[in-house]
Amino acid sequence: MPQAAFPDAADDRAPPTLRERLRIETRQDHEALDALFDGMLEDESDRRYRGFVAMNLLAHRAIEPRLVGALAEAGWQPGDRLEAAERDARALGLEAAEPPPFPLAPLAVPAAFGVAYVLEGSRLGARFMLKALKAREADAPRNRLPTHYLQASGDPSPFRNLLTAMNEAGMTEDDQTLAIEAARRTFRYFRQIAATWPHDGGPRT
Ligand code: HEM
Repeated sequence: MPQAAFPDAADDRAPPTLRERLRIETRQDHEALDALFDGMLEDESDRRYRGFVAMNLLAHRAIEPRLVGALAEAGWQPGDRLEAAERDARALGLEAAEPPPFPLAPLAVPAAFGVAYVLEGSRLGARFMLKALKAREADAPRNRLPTHYLQASGDPSPFRNLLTAMNEAGMTEDDQTLAIEAARRTFRYFRQIAATWPHDGGPRT
């Protein structure tokens, strides 16, 4: 019997989509970032939460202007998350700061999709964090924290719209590799900020 009559199960499997590849190939980077914020919601001093707000504020400040240029045709828009992070930072009394230079410049379209995947994908985790924070506040109302950023991140539709635009962009294998490398670099950029900011006590690991 020729082998082709009993194709390997693997042959039947559809190749992974770009989103699947991004999720799998950035998993370690995502976990390394999460680990910096372990115990964030149990931390009485709110030190890690301050670091979380500072990290997101500075990352959005550095990245959004680049994506506006690179993904205009793909319909990407920054939304209100930066402004929300600024409101949290003010409420927490965080010092004003400039982000470190974002390493991917200039940003071409395939890489920009990878960067935007990280920025918009963070909405998915934010929903869980907001829920956990609200539960904590119900137990200990005096620990109320400003949550504008988490609330502004609660809508997953910009992430879904981005995935649709990415699928319709007709990316080649090489483009996909560029997107994945850019996504990994973006996760590292977030970690770089988290290791430094805020100067008054972020998660310096
Ligand atoms: C710091 C604490 C964080 C926690 C606990 C966390 C947790 C999670 C969880 C539970 C999901 C999956 C949600 C679902 O399947 O519906 C998720 C998805 C995701 N998160 Fe985070 N996250 C954190 C921070 C971040 C940050 C800061 C970024 C970006 C820099 C990020 C990027 C992503 C991305 C891209 C996805 C989507 C993965 C996919 O394709 O499904 N996360 N996160």
